[in-house]
Amino acid sequence: MTRLRNAIISALVLLLGRARRRRPRREETRIVPPQPGHLAAELAVLALLGLSSSCAIAFILVYALGDSIPNETQFLGAALGLALLCLATALILVGLKLVPSEEVAEEYPPHEHPHEQQLIAEVIDESGTRFTRSRFFKLGLLGAGGTLGLAILAPAVSFGPLFRVGDFLQTPWRRGRRLVDETGKPYKASDISEKNFYLAFPEGTSDEEKEQMAASLVVIRLPQKELRLPSHLKGYDANGILAYSRICTHAGCAITLYRAPLFQPDEPRPALVCPCHYSTFDPATGGTVTFGPAGRDLPLLPVYKDSKGYLRAKGNFDGPVGPSWWGVRLWKAQP
Ligand code: FES
Repeated sequence: MTRLRNAIISALVLLLGRARRRRPRREETRIVPPQPGHLAAELAVLALLGLSSSCAIAFILVYALGDSIPNETQFLGAALGLALLCLATALILVGLKLVPSEEVAEEYPPHEHPHEQQLIAEVIDESGTRFTRSRFFKLGLLGAGGTLGLAILAPAVSFGPLFRVGDFLQTPWRRGRRLVDETGKPYKASDISEKNFYLAFPEGTSDEEKEQMAASLVVIRLPQKELRLPSHLKGYDANGILAYSRICTHAGCAITLYRAPLFQPDEPRPALVCPCHYSTFDPATGGTVTFGPAGRDLPLLPVYKDSKGYLRAKGNFDGPVGPSWWGVRLWKAQP
């Protein structure tokens, strides 16, 4: 960020502070007579460029706020369309009002005549725009072009969360909330046996709330001596009972398979498996990915057994629930 900020500041300083490096010229030798500035046209061009930037920024804001704005799609189309329209109008105005069209009609000397080259170079040099506020024009053009570029790139954030990451972190789980089955019956720790797989929800949630991504859990029990939870997940289990998010971190399918060998050889260890693309998570090590395309560990909910033996949440998950593009790209195959 610091590098980017320094680069932007340097570019602005260069643009604003750059001295005009033109060849000194004697007015009497000019071919194209100096033209008076066209203040109204210049101001109109600057206003149009500013309007174009504002529309492009509005596009980004509407895109970022998303569903909270009614008729979002129409606003997006209108903002981008107006930004392009204003930019095009500003450029047309520059062409019509600020770029003089001069013609020099005279006999051309022989083609290779060196004076001809010089003459053409001078005509081109002296026929520049009559914009007396050329720095503002450049800034305006840079602003309009830059913000429009950003507006066009904005939809790329749909590849992953950037603006609304909060949605991924909100869950119905709070400290003390009991784990219940599909009928609403609270689980006791004694209900959870090894080699089995249980579906759990937060107590007091409606059927509709149970559909929320972060509501459902898969609950299993492992022998405590088999647990290899990393240090930051110590205390997340209740005597070997582990409650993981049911949503696969690859593309959001529900984890519905539990591979727990019932007889020898009982290796590899028990694993939670997603049926969509066979991402496999090791519950003993904190839901780490051992196979498949998932990019992040399965989030683990800390649980405890209360004085009456019921299973309750200790807090929220250790990470965002659901699929994530960043994890998919960061994950490296386990050696
Ligand atoms: S959604 Fe689970 S592996 Fe793809």
